[in-house]
Amino acid sequence: MTDSLHWWQTGVIYQIYPRSFQDSNGDGVGDLNGVLQRLDYLQSLNIRTLWFSPIYPSPMHDFGYDVADYCAVHPLFGSLADFDRLLAATHARGMKLVLDLVPNHTSDEHPWFVESRSSRDNPKRDWYIWRDPAPDGGPPNNWLSFFGGPAWTFDEQTQQYYLHQFVKQQPELNYRNPAVLQAMLDAMRFWLERGVDGFRVDVIWLMIKDALLRDEPADPAWDGVNPHASLQHIYSADQPEVHDVIRAMRRLLDSYDDRMMVGEIYLPNDRLMTYYGAALDECHLPFNFQLINAKWDAQTVRRLVDQYEADLPPGGWPNWVMGNHDQHRLATRVGPQQARVANMLLLTLRGTPTCYYGDEIGMENVPIPLDRVQDPPAVNQPEIAHIVGRDPARTPMQWDASPNGGFAPAGVRTWLPLADDYAIRNVAEQERQPTSMLHFFRALTALRASTPALYAGAYAPVDTGVDEVFAYTRSHGDERYLVVLNFGQGNHRLDLRALGERAAIALSTGMLSSGDIRLRQVYITPNEGLLLRLI
Ligand code: NOJ
Repeated sequence: MTDSLHWWQTGVIYQIYPRSFQDSNGDGVGDLNGVLQRLDYLQSLNIRTLWFSPIYPSPMHDFGYDVADYCAVHPLFGSLADFDRLLAATHARGMKLVLDLVPNHTSDEHPWFVESRSSRDNPKRDWYIWRDPAPDGGPPNNWLSFFGGPAWTFDEQTQQYYLHQFVKQQPELNYRNPAVLQAMLDAMRFWLERGVDGFRVDVIWLMIKDALLRDEPADPAWDGVNPHASLQHIYSADQPEVHDVIRAMRRLLDSYDDRMMVGEIYLPNDRLMTYYGAALDECHLPFNFQLINAKWDAQTVRRLVDQYEADLPPGGWPNWVMGNHDQHRLATRVGPQQARVANMLLLTLRGTPTCYYGDEIGMENVPIPLDRVQDPPAVNQPEIAHIVGRDPARTPMQWDASPNGGFAPAGVRTWLPLADDYAIRNVAEQERQPTSMLHFFRALTALRASTPALYAGAYAPVDTGVDEVFAYTRSHGDERYLVVLNFGQGNHRLDLRALGERAAIALSTGMLSSGDIRLRQVYITPNEGLLLRLI
Protein backbone atom coordinates (compact mmCIF):
# COMPACT_ATOMS: atom_id res chain seq x y z
CA MET A 1 0.00 0.00 0.00
CA THR A 2 2.80 2.44 0.80
CA ASP A 3 4.11 2.16 -2.77
CA SER A 4 0.98 3.76 -4.11
CA LEU A 5 1.32 6.85 -1.95
CA HIS A 6 2.36 10.17 -3.45
CA TRP A 7 5.27 12.34 -2.38
CA TRP A 8 2.88 14.91 -0.93
CA GLN A 9 1.39 12.22 1.31
CA THR A 10 4.55 10.68 2.70
CA GLY A 11 6.93 13.63 2.92
CA VAL A 12 7.29 16.57 5.28
CA ILE A 13 6.56 20.08 3.93
CA TYR A 14 8.85 22.88 5.14
CA GLN A 15 7.79 26.47 4.65
CA ILE A 16 10.46 28.98 3.71
CA TYR A 17 9.69 32.65 4.11
CA PRO A 18 12.20 33.79 1.49
CA ARG A 19 12.70 37.30 2.88
CA SER A 20 14.04 35.78 6.09
CA PHE A 21 15.88 32.59 5.23
CA GLN A 22 19.27 33.58 3.83
CA ASP A 23 20.51 36.83 2.33
CA SER A 24 23.19 36.07 -0.29
CA ASN A 25 23.77 39.59 -1.60
CA GLY A 26 23.92 41.72 1.53
CA ASP A 27 20.77 43.80 1.07
CA GLY A 28 19.24 42.62 4.35
CA VAL A 29 16.53 40.56 2.63
CA GLY A 30 16.72 36.83 1.95
CA ASP A 31 16.82 35.57 -1.63
CA LEU A 32 16.80 32.50 -3.87
CA ASN A 33 20.57 32.13 -4.05
CA GLY A 34 20.51 32.19 -0.26
CA VAL A 35 18.15 29.22 -0.24
CA LEU A 36 20.44 27.48 -2.73
CA GLN A 37 23.33 27.88 -0.28
CA ARG A 38 21.24 26.22 2.41
CA LEU A 39 19.92 23.26 0.42
CA ASP A 40 22.32 20.86 2.11
CA TYR A 41 20.92 21.94 5.45
CA LEU A 42 17.35 21.44 4.24
CA GLN A 43 18.21 18.04 2.88
CA SER A 44 19.77 17.14 6.22
CA LEU A 45 16.39 17.82 7.84
CA ASN A 46 14.86 14.99 5.80
CA ILE A 47 12.40 17.44 4.31
CA ARG A 48 10.63 16.29 1.17
CA THR A 49 8.96 19.47 0.03
CA LEU A 50 9.90 23.13 0.17
CA TRP A 51 7.11 25.68 0.03
CA PHE A 52 8.16 29.24 -0.73
CA SER A 53 6.05 32.20 0.30
CA PRO A 54 5.66 34.54 -2.73
CA ILE A 55 8.75 35.44 -4.76
CA TYR A 56 6.93 37.39 -7.49
CA PRO A 57 7.42 41.06 -8.37
CA SER A 58 5.47 43.07 -5.83
CA PRO A 59 5.43 46.52 -4.27
CA MET A 60 5.49 44.58 -0.97
CA HIS A 61 2.57 46.26 0.74
CA ASP A 62 1.78 42.78 2.07
CA PHE A 63 5.30 41.40 1.69
CA GLY A 64 4.74 39.66 -1.62
CA TYR A 65 1.10 38.66 -1.19
CA ASP A 66 0.37 41.65 -3.42
CA VAL A 67 1.53 40.27 -6.75
CA ALA A 68 2.28 42.62 -9.65
CA ASP A 69 3.35 39.90 -12.11
CA TYR A 70 2.51 36.22 -11.72
CA CYS A 71 5.14 35.05 -14.20
CA ALA A 72 8.39 36.55 -12.96
CA VAL A 73 10.66 36.76 -9.93
CA HIS A 74 11.11 39.92 -7.85
CA PRO A 75 14.68 41.24 -8.33
CA LEU A 76 14.99 41.31 -4.52
CA PHE A 77 14.87 37.52 -4.63
CA GLY A 78 16.85 37.02 -7.83
CA SER A 79 15.97 36.16 -11.41
CA LEU A 80 14.09 33.47 -13.27
CA ALA A 81 17.47 31.92 -14.06
CA ASP A 82 18.22 31.79 -10.31
CA PHE A 83 14.86 30.17 -9.80
CA ASP A 84 15.48 27.54 -12.47
CA ARG A 85 18.85 26.75 -10.92
CA LEU A 86 17.32 26.40 -7.48
CA LEU A 87 14.51 24.21 -8.78
CA ALA A 88 17.00 21.93 -10.57
CA ALA A 89 19.17 21.70 -7.45
CA THR A 90 16.12 20.94 -5.30
CA HIS A 91 15.05 18.18 -7.66
CA ALA A 92 18.59 16.83 -7.85
CA ARG A 93 18.38 16.25 -4.10
CA GLY A 94 15.12 14.37 -4.46
CA MET A 95 13.12 17.22 -3.00
CA LYS A 96 10.03 18.96 -4.38
CA LEU A 97 9.28 22.64 -4.68
CA VAL A 98 5.87 24.21 -4.15
CA LEU A 99 5.16 27.87 -4.87
CA ASP A 100 2.68 30.13 -3.18
CA LEU A 101 -0.06 31.11 -5.62
CA VAL A 102 -2.06 34.21 -4.73
CA PRO A 103 -5.11 34.11 -7.01
CA ASN A 104 -7.71 35.92 -4.89
CA HIS A 105 -6.20 39.38 -5.32
CA THR A 106 -3.44 41.15 -7.21
CA SER A 107 -1.38 44.19 -6.39
CA ASP A 108 -2.97 47.48 -7.40
CA GLU A 109 0.14 47.84 -9.57
CA HIS A 110 -0.65 44.72 -11.58
CA PRO A 111 -1.32 45.76 -15.22
CA TRP A 112 -4.75 44.10 -15.00
CA PHE A 113 -5.80 46.44 -12.22
CA VAL A 114 -4.14 49.46 -13.77
CA GLU A 115 -6.35 48.85 -16.82
CA SER A 116 -9.38 47.99 -14.75
CA ARG A 117 -9.32 51.21 -12.79
CA SER A 118 -8.58 53.37 -15.85
CA SER A 119 -12.24 53.68 -16.86
CA ARG A 120 -15.62 52.10 -16.28
CA ASP A 121 -15.72 50.73 -19.81
CA ASN A 122 -12.24 49.27 -19.90
CA PRO A 123 -12.42 45.58 -20.98
CA LYS A 124 -10.71 44.62 -17.70
CA ARG A 125 -13.16 46.60 -15.54
CA ASP A 126 -15.05 43.44 -14.73
CA TRP A 127 -11.88 41.54 -13.77
CA TYR A 128 -12.18 43.11 -10.32
CA ILE A 129 -15.13 43.74 -8.02
CA TRP A 130 -16.35 47.32 -8.55
CA ARG A 131 -19.60 48.69 -7.14
CA ASP A 132 -21.39 52.01 -6.88
CA PRO A 133 -21.41 53.71 -3.49
CA ALA A 134 -24.32 53.09 -1.15
CA PRO A 135 -27.02 55.80 -1.31
CA ASP A 136 -25.25 57.72 1.48
CA GLY A 137 -22.00 57.67 -0.52
CA GLY A 138 -20.41 55.08 1.77
CA PRO A 139 -19.13 51.60 0.85
CA PRO A 140 -21.50 49.21 -0.98
CA ASN A 141 -21.82 46.90 2.04
CA ASN A 142 -20.52 46.37 5.57
CA TRP A 143 -17.67 43.97 4.80
CA LEU A 144 -14.44 44.40 6.70
CA SER A 145 -10.78 43.98 5.84
CA PHE A 146 -8.82 41.34 7.74
CA PHE A 147 -6.24 44.06 8.30
CA GLY A 148 -8.57 46.68 9.81
CA GLY A 149 -11.12 49.11 8.35
CA PRO A 150 -13.63 48.57 5.56
CA ALA A 151 -13.07 46.10 2.72
CA TRP A 152 -13.83 48.78 0.13
CA THR A 153 -11.84 51.71 -1.22
CA PHE A 154 -13.31 54.53 -3.28
CA ASP A 155 -11.69 55.34 -6.60
CA GLU A 156 -12.01 59.08 -7.27
CA GLN A 157 -11.44 58.84 -10.98
CA THR A 158 -14.21 56.38 -11.79
CA GLN A 159 -16.42 57.12 -8.76
CA GLN A 160 -16.84 53.51 -7.67
CA TYR A 161 -15.56 51.35 -4.84
CA TYR A 162 -13.40 48.25 -5.31
CA LEU A 163 -13.23 45.29 -2.93
CA HIS A 164 -10.17 44.24 -0.96
CA GLN A 165 -10.26 42.02 2.11
CA PHE A 166 -6.61 42.75 2.92
CA VAL A 167 -4.75 46.04 2.32
CA LYS A 168 -6.24 48.50 -0.12
CA GLN A 169 -3.38 47.80 -2.50
CA GLN A 170 -4.73 44.23 -2.87
CA PRO A 171 -7.86 44.51 -5.07
CA GLU A 172 -9.81 41.26 -5.38
CA LEU A 173 -10.26 39.52 -8.69
CA ASN A 174 -13.71 38.63 -9.97
CA TYR A 175 -13.87 34.88 -10.57
CA ARG A 176 -17.43 35.20 -11.84
CA ASN A 177 -15.72 36.39 -15.02
CA PRO A 178 -14.35 33.25 -16.75
CA ALA A 179 -11.50 35.22 -18.35
CA VAL A 180 -10.00 35.79 -14.91
CA LEU A 181 -9.86 32.09 -14.19
CA GLN A 182 -8.26 31.44 -17.58
CA ALA A 183 -5.61 34.07 -16.88
CA MET A 184 -4.81 32.51 -13.51
CA LEU A 185 -4.64 29.02 -15.04
CA ASP A 186 -2.15 30.44 -17.55
CA ALA A 187 0.00 31.72 -14.70
CA MET A 188 -0.10 28.28 -13.08
CA ARG A 189 0.84 26.68 -16.41
CA PHE A 190 3.86 28.99 -16.65
CA TRP A 191 5.31 27.51 -13.44
CA LEU A 192 4.13 23.96 -14.03
CA GLU A 193 5.94 23.98 -17.38
CA ARG A 194 9.11 25.07 -15.58
CA GLY A 195 8.77 22.01 -13.35
CA VAL A 196 7.24 23.38 -10.16
CA ASP A 197 5.65 20.52 -8.20
CA GLY A 198 2.59 22.33 -7.00
CA PHE A 199 1.05 25.31 -5.28
CA ARG A 200 0.06 26.44 -1.84
CA VAL A 201 -3.01 28.45 -2.76
CA ASP A 202 -3.51 31.61 -0.74
CA VAL A 203 -6.97 32.19 0.84
CA ILE A 204 -8.55 29.70 -1.53
CA TRP A 205 -11.82 29.78 0.44
CA LEU A 206 -12.29 33.47 -0.26
CA MET A 207 -12.02 33.31 -4.03
CA ILE A 208 -15.71 33.89 -4.81
CA LYS A 209 -18.08 36.23 -3.00
CA ASP A 210 -21.85 36.34 -2.77
CA ALA A 211 -23.29 37.42 -6.13
CA LEU A 212 -25.47 40.03 -4.38
CA LEU A 213 -22.69 41.22 -2.06
CA ARG A 214 -25.10 41.18 0.87
CA ASP A 215 -24.29 42.70 4.26
CA GLU A 216 -22.84 40.24 6.76
CA PRO A 217 -24.57 39.72 10.13
CA ALA A 218 -22.88 40.61 13.40
CA ASP A 219 -21.30 37.75 15.31
CA PRO A 220 -22.89 37.62 18.77
CA ALA A 221 -19.92 35.57 20.01
CA TRP A 222 -17.40 38.30 19.16
CA ASP A 223 -14.91 38.88 21.98
CA GLY A 224 -14.46 42.55 21.13
CA VAL A 225 -10.80 42.20 20.16
CA ASN A 226 -10.26 41.92 16.42
CA PRO A 227 -12.83 44.00 14.49
CA HIS A 228 -12.73 41.62 11.51
CA ALA A 229 -14.18 38.90 13.74
CA SER A 230 -17.18 41.06 14.66
CA LEU A 231 -19.04 39.82 11.57
CA GLN A 232 -19.99 36.33 10.46
CA HIS A 233 -18.35 35.95 7.08
CA ILE A 234 -21.14 34.13 5.36
CA TYR A 235 -21.06 36.13 2.14
CA SER A 236 -17.40 37.08 1.68
CA ALA A 237 -16.05 33.55 2.11
CA ASP A 238 -16.76 29.87 1.48
CA GLN A 239 -19.35 30.39 -1.27
CA PRO A 240 -20.61 27.28 -3.12
CA GLU A 241 -19.32 28.49 -6.50
CA VAL A 242 -15.71 28.50 -5.26
CA HIS A 243 -15.62 24.75 -5.78
CA ASP A 244 -15.99 25.15 -9.56
CA VAL A 245 -12.90 27.37 -9.57
CA ILE A 246 -10.90 24.91 -7.49
CA ARG A 247 -11.93 21.99 -9.68
CA ALA A 248 -10.67 23.87 -12.74
CA MET A 249 -7.33 24.43 -11.03
CA ARG A 250 -7.18 20.76 -10.07
CA ARG A 251 -7.94 19.64 -13.63
CA LEU A 252 -4.98 21.67 -14.81
CA LEU A 253 -2.70 20.09 -12.19
CA ASP A 254 -3.96 16.64 -13.09
CA SER A 255 -3.00 17.19 -16.71
CA TYR A 256 0.61 17.15 -15.47
CA ASP A 257 2.48 14.36 -13.79
CA ASP A 258 2.05 14.10 -10.00
CA ARG A 259 1.61 17.77 -9.06
CA MET A 260 -0.29 18.96 -6.02
CA MET A 261 -2.28 21.78 -4.48
CA VAL A 262 -2.59 22.64 -0.81
CA GLY A 263 -5.25 25.22 -0.03
CA GLU A 264 -5.16 27.81 2.73
CA ILE A 265 -8.52 27.49 4.48
CA TYR A 266 -9.51 28.64 7.95
CA LEU A 267 -12.86 26.88 8.47
CA PRO A 268 -14.39 24.38 10.88
CA ASN A 269 -14.15 20.69 9.92
CA ASP A 270 -17.57 20.32 8.33
CA ARG A 271 -16.78 23.12 5.88
CA LEU A 272 -13.07 22.32 5.54
CA MET A 273 -13.74 18.80 4.31
CA THR A 274 -15.74 20.08 1.34
CA TYR A 275 -12.46 21.40 -0.09
CA TYR A 276 -11.26 17.88 -0.85
CA GLY A 277 -14.06 17.93 -3.43
CA ALA A 278 -17.02 15.59 -3.61
CA ALA A 279 -15.02 13.31 -5.91
CA LEU A 280 -11.67 14.15 -4.29
CA ASP A 281 -11.25 16.47 -7.23
CA GLU A 282 -10.28 19.70 -5.45
CA CYS A 283 -7.39 20.34 -3.02
CA HIS A 284 -5.06 17.41 -2.45
CA LEU A 285 -4.61 18.90 1.00
CA PRO A 286 -6.92 21.51 2.51
CA PHE A 287 -4.66 22.93 5.23
CA ASN A 288 -5.71 21.79 8.68
CA PHE A 289 -4.79 24.56 11.14
CA GLN A 290 -6.51 23.22 14.24
CA LEU A 291 -3.34 22.56 16.20
CA ILE A 292 -2.37 26.20 15.84
CA ASN A 293 -5.48 27.49 17.50
CA ALA A 294 -6.11 24.68 19.96
CA LYS A 295 -5.88 25.13 23.69
CA TRP A 296 -2.68 23.28 24.48
CA ASP A 297 -3.83 20.45 26.68
CA ALA A 298 -3.77 16.73 26.09
CA GLN A 299 -7.50 16.09 26.16
CA THR A 300 -8.38 19.00 23.89
CA VAL A 301 -5.78 17.87 21.38
CA ARG A 302 -6.88 14.26 21.57
CA ARG A 303 -10.49 15.25 20.95
CA LEU A 304 -9.61 17.38 17.96
CA VAL A 305 -7.38 14.71 16.43
CA ASP A 306 -10.07 12.06 16.85
CA GLN A 307 -12.73 14.35 15.45
CA TYR A 308 -10.64 15.31 12.45
CA GLU A 309 -9.87 11.66 11.71
CA ALA A 310 -13.59 10.88 11.96
CA ASP A 311 -14.62 13.79 9.74
CA LEU A 312 -12.23 13.08 6.85
CA PRO A 313 -13.99 12.02 3.67
CA PRO A 314 -13.20 8.51 2.41
CA GLY A 315 -9.85 8.67 0.63
CA GLY A 316 -9.12 12.20 1.90
CA TRP A 317 -5.51 12.44 3.07
CA PRO A 318 -5.00 14.17 6.44
CA ASN A 319 -2.52 16.95 7.13
CA TRP A 320 -1.35 18.93 10.15
CA VAL A 321 0.23 22.34 10.56
CA MET A 322 1.95 23.69 13.65
CA GLY A 323 2.99 27.15 12.48
CA ASN A 324 3.28 29.54 9.56
CA HIS A 325 4.14 33.13 8.69
CA ASP A 326 0.73 34.40 9.86
CA GLN A 327 0.83 32.90 13.37
CA HIS A 328 2.75 33.38 16.56
CA ARG A 329 5.77 31.10 16.77
CA LEU A 330 5.13 27.56 17.95
CA ALA A 331 7.62 27.77 20.84
CA THR A 332 5.95 31.00 21.99
CA ARG A 333 2.45 29.58 21.80
CA VAL A 334 3.04 26.32 23.62
CA GLY A 335 6.08 27.45 25.64
CA PRO A 336 9.68 26.41 25.00
CA GLN A 337 9.29 23.38 27.30
CA GLN A 338 6.51 21.94 25.17
CA ALA A 339 8.05 22.67 21.76
CA ARG A 340 9.56 19.18 21.45
CA VAL A 341 6.30 17.53 22.46
CA ALA A 342 4.53 19.64 19.84
CA ASN A 343 7.00 18.62 17.15
CA MET A 344 6.73 14.98 18.12
CA LEU A 345 2.98 15.26 17.78
CA LEU A 346 3.16 17.02 14.42
CA LEU A 347 5.62 14.51 13.01
CA THR A 348 3.92 11.36 14.25
CA LEU A 349 0.26 12.06 13.56
CA ARG A 350 -1.26 10.45 10.48
CA GLY A 351 -0.98 12.75 7.48
CA THR A 352 1.32 15.28 5.89
CA PRO A 353 3.03 17.63 8.36
CA THR A 354 3.91 21.22 7.47
CA CYS A 355 6.74 22.83 9.44
CA TYR A 356 7.71 26.49 9.53
CA TYR A 357 11.34 27.55 9.13
CA GLY A 358 13.13 28.04 12.44
CA ASP A 359 10.72 25.90 14.44
CA GLU A 360 13.30 23.12 14.23
CA ILE A 361 15.59 25.18 16.48
CA GLY A 362 12.79 26.47 18.67
CA MET A 363 12.75 30.07 17.42
CA GLU A 364 10.36 32.23 19.40
CA ASN A 365 8.42 35.41 18.60
CA VAL A 366 10.82 38.33 18.40
CA PRO A 367 9.58 41.60 19.95
CA ILE A 368 9.76 44.26 17.23
CA PRO A 369 10.61 47.84 18.30
CA LEU A 370 7.79 50.22 17.37
CA ASP A 371 9.80 52.02 14.70
CA ARG A 372 10.50 48.73 12.91
CA VAL A 373 6.97 47.31 12.81
CA GLN A 374 6.06 46.71 9.18
CA ASP A 375 3.20 44.27 8.95
CA PRO A 376 0.00 46.03 7.79
CA PRO A 377 -2.46 44.62 10.36
CA ALA A 378 -0.10 45.76 13.13
CA VAL A 379 0.57 49.15 11.55
CA ASN A 380 -3.16 49.77 10.95
CA GLN A 381 -4.28 48.56 14.38
CA PRO A 382 -1.56 49.46 16.90
CA GLU A 383 -3.86 48.72 19.84
CA ILE A 384 -4.02 45.01 18.90
CA ALA A 385 -0.62 44.79 17.21
CA HIS A 386 0.60 42.31 19.83
CA ILE A 387 -2.19 39.95 18.76
CA VAL A 388 -2.46 40.45 15.01
CA GLY A 389 1.09 41.55 14.12
CA ARG A 390 3.03 38.94 12.17
CA ASP A 391 6.52 40.46 12.08
CA PRO A 392 7.58 38.65 15.30
CA ALA A 393 7.30 35.27 13.56
CA ARG A 394 9.02 36.40 10.35
CA THR A 395 12.44 37.39 11.64
CA PRO A 396 15.72 36.25 10.05
CA MET A 397 16.76 32.62 10.41
CA GLN A 398 19.35 32.16 13.14
CA TRP A 399 22.22 30.27 11.53
CA ASP A 400 25.18 31.02 13.77
CA ALA A 401 26.58 33.40 16.40
CA SER A 402 28.20 35.86 13.98
CA PRO A 403 26.82 39.40 13.62
CA ASN A 404 23.44 39.10 11.85
CA GLY A 405 23.37 35.44 12.77
CA GLY A 406 24.78 34.22 9.47
CA PHE A 407 21.58 35.42 7.79
CA ALA A 408 23.25 38.50 6.28
CA PRO A 409 26.79 39.87 6.28
CA ALA A 410 27.91 41.83 9.34
CA GLY A 411 26.97 45.50 9.30
CA VAL A 412 23.94 45.07 7.06
CA ARG A 413 20.59 46.32 8.41
CA THR A 414 18.33 43.31 8.11
CA TRP A 415 14.72 43.96 7.08
CA LEU A 416 13.49 42.78 10.49
CA PRO A 417 15.70 42.53 13.58
CA LEU A 418 17.13 39.20 14.71
CA ALA A 419 16.14 37.67 18.03
CA ASP A 420 18.23 38.89 20.98
CA ASP A 421 19.21 35.31 21.76
CA TYR A 422 20.42 34.39 18.28
CA ALA A 423 24.02 33.97 19.46
CA ILE A 424 22.85 31.10 21.68
CA ARG A 425 19.90 29.73 19.77
CA ASN A 426 21.18 29.02 16.27
CA VAL A 427 21.78 26.17 13.88
CA ALA A 428 25.57 26.02 14.31
CA GLU A 429 25.33 25.87 18.08
CA GLN A 430 22.65 23.21 17.99
CA GLU A 431 24.66 21.14 15.51
CA ARG A 432 27.33 20.98 18.22
CA GLN A 433 24.96 19.83 20.97
CA PRO A 434 23.95 16.19 20.51
CA THR A 435 20.72 16.63 22.48
CA SER A 436 19.61 19.90 20.88
CA MET A 437 16.18 20.61 19.47
CA LEU A 438 17.73 20.49 16.00
CA HIS A 439 19.12 16.99 16.50
CA PHE A 440 15.82 15.94 17.99
CA PHE A 441 13.90 17.30 15.00
CA ARG A 442 16.24 15.59 12.58
CA ALA A 443 16.03 12.26 14.40
CA LEU A 444 12.26 12.52 14.29
CA THR A 445 12.07 13.32 10.57
CA ALA A 446 14.60 10.56 9.81
CA LEU A 447 12.53 8.00 11.69
CA ARG A 448 9.37 9.20 10.06
CA ALA A 449 10.87 9.00 6.59
CA SER A 450 12.06 5.43 7.06
CA THR A 451 9.08 4.02 8.96
CA PRO A 452 5.93 3.10 7.02
CA ALA A 453 3.90 2.96 10.24
CA LEU A 454 4.71 6.63 10.82
CA TYR A 455 4.27 8.00 7.33
CA ALA A 456 1.41 5.76 6.28
CA GLY A 457 0.08 3.75 9.20
CA ALA A 458 -3.32 3.79 10.87
CA TYR A 459 -3.95 6.01 13.88
CA ALA A 460 -5.67 4.85 17.07
CA PRO A 461 -5.92 6.77 20.35
CA VAL A 462 -4.91 5.00 23.56
CA ASP A 463 -6.47 5.63 26.96
CA THR A 464 -3.68 6.44 29.40
CA GLY A 465 -5.79 7.11 32.48
CA VAL A 466 -3.91 10.40 32.96
CA ASP A 467 -5.50 13.64 31.82
CA GLU A 468 -2.33 15.41 30.78
CA VAL A 469 -0.94 12.52 28.73
CA PHE A 470 -2.11 11.89 25.17
CA ALA A 471 -1.08 8.60 23.59
CA TYR A 472 -1.79 6.87 20.30
CA THR A 473 -0.55 4.08 18.12
CA ARG A 474 0.46 4.13 14.49
CA SER A 475 0.37 0.74 12.79
CA HIS A 476 1.23 -0.66 9.44
CA GLY A 477 1.26 -4.42 8.84
CA ASP A 478 3.14 -5.99 11.76
CA GLU A 479 4.83 -2.76 12.65
CA ARG A 480 3.33 -0.84 15.58
CA TYR A 481 4.51 2.36 17.19
CA LEU A 482 3.24 4.03 20.32
CA VAL A 483 3.50 7.77 20.94
CA VAL A 484 3.12 9.01 24.52
CA LEU A 485 3.07 12.77 25.03
CA ASN A 486 3.06 14.55 28.37
CA PHE A 487 1.45 17.96 27.86
CA GLY A 488 1.82 18.80 31.52
CA GLN A 489 4.17 19.22 34.45
CA GLY A 490 3.52 16.01 36.33
CA ASN A 491 5.55 12.79 36.64
CA HIS A 492 3.38 9.82 35.79
CA ARG A 493 3.46 6.08 35.77
CA LEU A 494 1.22 4.61 33.09
CA ASP A 495 -0.08 1.10 32.82
CA LEU A 496 -0.19 0.36 29.10
CA ARG A 497 -0.02 -3.42 29.29
CA ALA A 498 -3.12 -3.67 27.09
CA LEU A 499 -0.71 -2.93 24.22
CA GLY A 500 1.70 -5.76 25.04
CA GLU A 501 4.60 -6.68 27.24
CA ARG A 502 7.53 -4.56 26.11
CA ALA A 503 8.46 -1.72 23.82
CA ALA A 504 11.72 -0.43 22.41
CA ILE A 505 12.55 3.25 22.73
CA ALA A 506 12.79 4.65 19.20
CA LEU A 507 13.18 8.27 20.29
CA SER A 508 12.38 10.47 23.25
CA THR A 509 12.28 14.25 23.59
CA GLY A 510 15.37 13.79 25.79
CA MET A 511 17.10 12.07 22.85
CA LEU A 512 17.05 8.50 24.14
CA SER A 513 17.01 6.15 21.18
CA SER A 514 17.77 2.75 22.61
CA GLY A 515 16.75 0.43 25.39
CA ASP A 516 13.40 -1.10 26.11
CA ILE A 517 10.72 -0.67 28.70
CA ARG A 518 7.91 -2.68 30.24
CA LEU A 519 4.53 -1.44 29.19
CA ARG A 520 2.92 -2.20 32.55
CA GLN A 521 5.06 0.60 34.01
CA VAL A 522 5.81 3.44 31.66
CA TYR A 523 7.36 6.40 33.45
CA ILE A 524 6.94 9.77 31.85
CA THR A 525 8.42 13.02 33.14
CA PRO A 526 7.13 16.62 32.68
CA ASN A 527 7.12 17.84 29.05
CA GLU A 528 8.34 14.47 27.88
CA GLY A 529 7.41 12.67 24.68
CA LEU A 530 8.18 9.03 23.95
CA LEU A 531 8.13 7.29 20.61
CA LEU A 532 8.14 3.55 21.24
CA ARG A 533 8.20 0.55 18.96
CA LEU A 534 5.91 -2.16 20.26
CA ILE A 535 7.57 -5.57 20.31
C1 NOJ B 1 -2.85 34.73 3.59
C2 NOJ B 1 -1.36 34.84 3.70
O1 NOJ B 1 -0.86 33.71 4.35
C3 NOJ B 1 -1.08 36.12 4.41
O2 NOJ B 1 0.27 36.25 4.76
C4 NOJ B 1 -1.53 37.27 3.54
O3 NOJ B 1 -1.37 38.50 4.21
C5 NOJ B 1 -2.99 37.12 3.14
N1 NOJ B 1 -3.32 35.77 2.75
C6 NOJ B 1 -3.32 37.99 1.99
O4 NOJ B 1 -2.74 37.48 0.83
